[in-house]
Amino acid sequence: MPNICVVGSVNMDLINRVQQHPLPGQTVRASTTRYAPGGKGANQAVAAARASQEGQTLLVGAVGADLWGNQLLEMLKVNGVDTQGVVTLNETTGMAVVTVDEAGENTIVVVPGANAGVTRAHIEAMASVFVQCDAIVLQNEIPREVTLRAMELAQQNGVWVLWNPSPLEGVDEGMLGLTDILVVNQTEAAHFVGHSVSDGDSGQVAAKELCRKGPAIVVVTLGAGGVAYADVFGNMEVVPAFTVPVVDTTGAGDTFVGAFAVARMEGRKDALRFAVAAAALAVTRQGAQEAIPSRQETEQLLDGEVGWSPA
Ligand code: RIB
Repeated sequence: MPNICVVGSVNMDLINRVQQHPLPGQTVRASTTRYAPGGKGANQAVAAARASQEGQTLLVGAVGADLWGNQLLEMLKVNGVDTQGVVTLNETTGMAVVTVDEAGENTIVVVPGANAGVTRAHIEAMASVFVQCDAIVLQNEIPREVTLRAMELAQQNGVWVLWNPSPLEGVDEGMLGLTDILVVNQTEAAHFVGHSVSDGDSGQVAAKELCRKGPAIVVVTLGAGGVAYADVFGNMEVVPAFTVPVVDTTGAGDTFVGAFAVARMEGRKDALRFAVAAAALAVTRQGAQEAIPSRQETEQLLDGEVGWSPA
């Protein structure tokens, strides 16, 4: 069973539900507001842990020395994530202000807090543990040089590198050369290839182009359009999304990444469909981490035991 190491952010999400997102200069009223666990790194770690059968999931990152930090660490442990790599820093815990509209679409403002305090030394101190994993999963919510160092160490030790360069801000394209599996959304794919990506066809073209920049496998997530896949062996595929009632899309991409990392490392032939199904279930529920399905729930959707079907 594969062991997955996620290096990334831990946030407390402040989630506001609104009818419509405010325009610049506009004030709108939220119908509900609440705190819930999030952070792209933590979400992907929980997604991997819930998707796993027996494998271990390790998270490397940081929380602040405050109430939220303690709560988020507890939530990770409850979800079966090994938190020995999460340090507590004399900072505030990372926070994300998430606004979700009636259609389930979100906007997110991230306050890095302790996530900005993760260092190369921290990664190096954890190296002996994470180089024993099958894959290392990274995003772009901790300092870039730290992500880069983790990639280098993983490559030197034969550990697969899965990179989800989100948020896109300040990404270093050179990091594609240290990436084995790249998972990007339409906007991120368009940024790297320099043309728009809007559907399965353009997604496949972009995935193929991205394979020439370093990664052996590229997945472009297309929301309701499913995912487009290409690899260096010339395989290309579009996997349709499931048609589901959309409640909240927050963390759906993270759910896809965590589930795909596990399923791909397991060698599942249906790894893409497994991850698409996990993400589909996530959008039917509120919140980021709390919306992530278990392996059993995802299998049930794949087996047609749940009423929703592929688009
Ligand atoms: O991808 C969703 C996540 O992005 C949220 O949980 C928020 O914390 C931000 O990191």
